Amino acid sequence: MNTRVLPASDAAIREAAARIRSGELVAFPTETVYGLGANGLDASAVARIFEAKGRPGDNPLILHICSPEQLRPLIDGEPSERARRMMDAFWPGPLTMIFPKSARVPANVTAGLDTVAIRLPLHPVARRLIEEAGVPVAAPSANRSGRPSPTAAAHVFEDMDGRIPLILDGGACAVGLESTVVDMTGATPRILRPGGVTAEQIERVCGSGEVDPAVMRPLAEGERPRSPGMKYRHYAPAGELTIFSGEAGRVERAICAEYDRAAAEGRRPLILALEGHLAAYGGRRTESLGADEAEMAHRIFAVLRDADALGADVLFSEAVEARGLGLAVMNRLGRAAAFHIVEV
Ligand code: TXA
Ligand code: MG
Repeated sequence: MNTRVLPASDAAIREAAARIRSGELVAFPTETVYGLGANGLDASAVARIFEAKGRPGDNPLILHICSPEQLRPLIDGEPSERARRMMDAFWPGPLTMIFPKSARVPANVTAGLDTVAIRLPLHPVARRLIEEAGVPVAAPSANRSGRPSPTAAAHVFEDMDGRIPLILDGGACAVGLESTVVDMTGATPRILRPGGVTAEQIERVCGSGEVDPAVMRPLAEGERPRSPGMKYRHYAPAGELTIFSGEAGRVERAICAEYDRAAAEGRRPLILALEGHLAAYGGRRTESLGADEAEMAHRIFAVLRDADALGADVLFSEAVEARGLGLAVMNRLGRAAAFHIVEV
């Protein structure tokens, strides 16, 4: 299959919407990462998503809508008062909420679960595409399963060339990390995946909220996660990644020692560090994580992809403070490192 990349003009969005309506797959920009979309009410179109990504069939998808009115037919019962407050505060935006599903949602969208994940994105191209298509759009991140999420059309092309007919190019994604996934079915909102909307913001709107403990640790042998996505190794660069956590000076010394040892063994190490710390690593090969939390969120997936392009076979990263957007950055870094985090 020939994969075209088109700037997201009106004509290209109309073509993409027509393809979605007829059961094909189209990649499109959102403010978080690029999505790989299909008609979310058409089980055979949805099956094509799993095939194109090589995604395990037990990992459910998010349904994307373009107005709050589209929510009700997809869920069982009315949204709670708390869910409504969340919608008012964070939609459109990088928030996905999990509700009991209605019978209209095909079983493969939710991987057989009785709950469904729904998000109303902010990106104008995403919203116009969903509106033109006239259906909820099922869309995971548009990477091959296990690879870092794509934050530019070129990343999607790297992973999906030959597998899908069309990629809408809307430039770089503003947030750069996937949406915050919050389970709204329990007594308090529970964050299953930290993202662009922070735990602190959710707590302010709801008065309560918890972060699932599996967000910052590997699952135990045989443990059943609340979100199937937690099970899979994700975002992993080809090189082996270790994270160092602790006081800045100690972290720098530990990373320099490990780097020098790896280089002496003839390996090709790379250091991922905060912009303000780069000078401390002397002439060693470094890549900036960014200067602050927002920039780190924005850069993290591109940095992980770059590490591969640079041929780094071993990576050492500074830990990031797990608060605000930093929690989401640390979650992606941690998972890329299979939670190999060394306290120094
Ligand atoms: O920002 C985003 O959320 C992007 C853009 C394209 O919207 N999408 C995205 O989708 O990241 P995906 O499929 O890569 O991640 C969806 C996550 C997975 O970890 C999945 O396990 C979880 O949401 N999920 C989906 N439905 C769920 C459900 N019913 N219960 C628990 N977790 C669910
Ligand atoms: Mg994904």
